[in-house]
Amino acid sequence: MYDFAPDTGSSPEERYRQLGEAASALIEGESDAVANMANLAALLWEFIPRMNWAGFYRMVDGELVLGPFVGRPACIRIPVGQGVCGAAAATGETQLVPDVHAFPGHIACDAVTRSEVVVPVIRDGKVIAVIDCDSPEDARFEDADARGLEALAERIAPHI
Ligand code: SME
Repeated sequence: MYDFAPDTGSSPEERYRQLGEAASALIEGESDAVANMANLAALLWEFIPRMNWAGFYRMVDGELVLGPFVGRPACIRIPVGQGVCGAAAATGETQLVPDVHAFPGHIACDAVTRSEVVVPVIRDGKVIAVIDCDSPEDARFEDADARGLEALAERIAPHI
């Protein structure tokens, strides 16, 4: 049995530290990318509170394609450069969006989403996937989330 639960009441920084340790414990030694992304999506959901969607889009033949996630069914294909995920893929930079309705070209997969953070996963200098975390709360994500997810992206890049 896997029992990876965050310490309730801990700071965001501490939660991301624990998330990183849980991620390594689950994925290091496993070579199947889908299995690893599926477990990572479950961990994002366990460790990051107040979200409505968390998961992956993978770079496949030059466009983003839906990967393992937790949440409602979502848009399947996103062109690079389009929406928040597409912006992260195009720039290779984290997108911290406090109000999705103010983001030009935001793709509304779920009308309840109000804010999001999208972090690119980079391997050998190329964006191979993005981690997308969405919340029904305005300005849910802050710098600590962006930094924590960037550290996670670096940790998981060889394993997805
Ligand atoms: N929010 C994303 C689309 C993906 S879904 O929200 C799961 C975007 O605008 O890139």
